[in-house]
Amino acid sequence: MDTKWLVVNDELSTLQISEKLYQCAEDLKNGKLVIFPTETVYGLGANALMENCINKIYEAKGRPSDNPLIVHIADINQLDYVISDNVPDIFWELIDVFWPGPVTFVIPKSKHIPDIVTGGKNTVGIRFPSHPVSQALIKLASVPVAAPSANISGKPSPTRPLHLKEMEGRVDWIIDSGTIPLGLESTIISLASDVPTLLRPGPITVEKLKEIIPDLIINSNFKEAMAPGMKYRHYAPEADLYLVEWNDDLNSVASEVSETADKLFEKNINSLILCTDETRSYYSTKGLEFLSMGSRTNLYDVAKNLFHSIRAIDDMGYTHAIVEGFEETGLGLTIMNRIRKAVMKK
Ligand code: TXA
Ligand code: MG
Repeated sequence: MDTKWLVVNDELSTLQISEKLYQCAEDLKNGKLVIFPTETVYGLGANALMENCINKIYEAKGRPSDNPLIVHIADINQLDYVISDNVPDIFWELIDVFWPGPVTFVIPKSKHIPDIVTGGKNTVGIRFPSHPVSQALIKLASVPVAAPSANISGKPSPTRPLHLKEMEGRVDWIIDSGTIPLGLESTIISLASDVPTLLRPGPITVEKLKEIIPDLIINSNFKEAMAPGMKYRHYAPEADLYLVEWNDDLNSVASEVSETADKLFEKNINSLILCTDETRSYYSTKGLEFLSMGSRTNLYDVAKNLFHSIRAIDDMGYTHAIVEGFEETGLGLTIMNRIRKAVMKK
């Protein structure tokens, strides 16, 4: 398959963005696969109403088809067609607060959404992204767009154009809008049972969610894999990745990381340390190899760089790496959720 690469600067006006996207949106509507930017990660989109296109998504990603897809909209009026008549009242209150933005709601689906989109479930995950390019694309295509993250299954979600190279030849279009602003996939909240339940932590922190939804159920380990996709090893490099847990004495974290690197070195293994600005000088004075993910005082930066850093381990040729942990509050909870999946054994 020949992949067309289209660069669309997200700072252009809505009209200019729409002009650039015209052909691509036509193709998306008519059954082609399009990689597009959202504020969270790049998505791999297809017309959610065309059953045979959805199969192509699973093929392109090499993803098990029991793992349901999120349906993206760009206009509240599109909801009528995709959700059942029986959605709880709280849904309308919550979308008022969180949309457009990085929150997905799982709710009962309408009959128009093919079973293959939802992995046979009678619920559907819906999201209204805030990124101007995704909004323009979905509006022009004028259909709901099913889209998982645009990575080969198991790899970290793509957050930079360079990460999309692996999808060339697998999709019809790639829309390149540069580095993605948030860098972590959306928060997923299920409204399918009586009490709202957090299925996947995301860019909107649990603390913020609790202010709006005080009775939100949080299974802090997310062990039960309520979102089917959470049960797989994910976000993982080919390399062996070790985690050193956070504690409030960063010197002791850095010294444990260094000891791990030294032990690997004794076995003739060079490892890469994924560290933070606060600890980099500790490793540089010891001559260890490291890559900083950003400062602990701005976890949004760490989030934005996380998947790139994990991918960099393999790209830089390392077979082993060590990552520093974070305190599991605020965005740190989401960052650690992804890191724990990346260090799961193969
Ligand atoms: O930020 C995001 O959510 C990105 C961008 C592209 O929108 N999308 C994304 O999609 O992360 P994906 O397919 O990589 O992850 C979607 C997760 C999966 O873990 C899936 O199991 C879960 O959402 N999910 C989707 N529909 C569901 C449903 N009806 N019930 C439970 N979990 C669902
Ligand atoms: Mg994914």
